[in-house]
Amino acid sequence: MSNIVLEAKDIYKSFTDGKTSVDVIRGLSLKVEAGEFVSIVGSSGSGKSTLLHVLGGLDRPSQGMVFLNGQRFDNLSETARGHKRNQYLGFVYQFHHLLPEFSALENVAMPLMLRSDAQYKDAKERSEYLLERVGLSHRLTHKPGELSGGERQRVALARALVTQPALMLADEPTGNLDRKTALTIFDLLSDLKKEFNMAMLIVTHDEQLAKSADRILHMQDGTWV
Ligand SMILES: Nc1ncnc2c1ncn2[C@@H]1O[C@H](COP(=O)(O)OP(=O)(O)OP(=O)(O)O)[C@@H](O)[C@H]1O
Ligand SMILES: [Mg+2]
Repeated sequence: MSNIVLEAKDIYKSFTDGKTSVDVIRGLSLKVEAGEFVSIVGSSGSGKSTLLHVLGGLDRPSQGMVFLNGQRFDNLSETARGHKRNQYLGFVYQFHHLLPEFSALENVAMPLMLRSDAQYKDAKERSEYLLERVGLSHRLTHKPGELSGGERQRVALARALVTQPALMLADEPTGNLDRKTALTIFDLLSDLKKEFNMAMLIVTHDEQLAKSADRILHMQDGTWV
């Protein structure tokens, strides 16, 4: 059995708006092994978020294929991609995307509660554990609007990790944090990665943080450089 969790083959992504078409991703391939930590670095507008959305099945490539645990993923229906994502992937968005009307605890528990065999008690315990791991035991009942930017990002991390995904895709998980908090989050991520034997693919502007990865990929104008 292959130990590749994610494989992308020759990905293209264009956005068309009336007559103009923008080619954002231009022929990218990528393999991520189980337990591997890969970082992607590139300037603003180089296509990093677009690529992550395609890899995570949030969007479809214009051309090319994505495989998750050896199975074709990009050509499934939106619902089927959602199921696979819930099963195998944790996604941290560039802008946290927490649900404003729910508490930190409820936000974190959401991916577990969406499962057909969901058990509220287990989901709650597991979410409390993750929130404790990100240092937010004292903020369980706070809503996103009542949390600081860094705290929201940590809730988003806990939500991505609550299902113990095989792979976490994170888009600038420390982007809006001060250096000290960013380093703490990176240390936490490497601990959790070991604890869960998880692979991580992280987009970051920060070269120094990127260096803690097993492998760094540099992106420019939708291709590796
Ligand atoms: N839905 C869309 N329609 C049209 N163009 C888009 C769309 N989404 C992204 N783009 C364009 O694709 C390019 C890459 O965007 P993307 O968000 O992937 O960049 P990025 O590398 O994540 O940048 P940043 O570091 O600023 O987050 C940008 O020029 C953007 O304008
Ligand atoms: Mg981005």
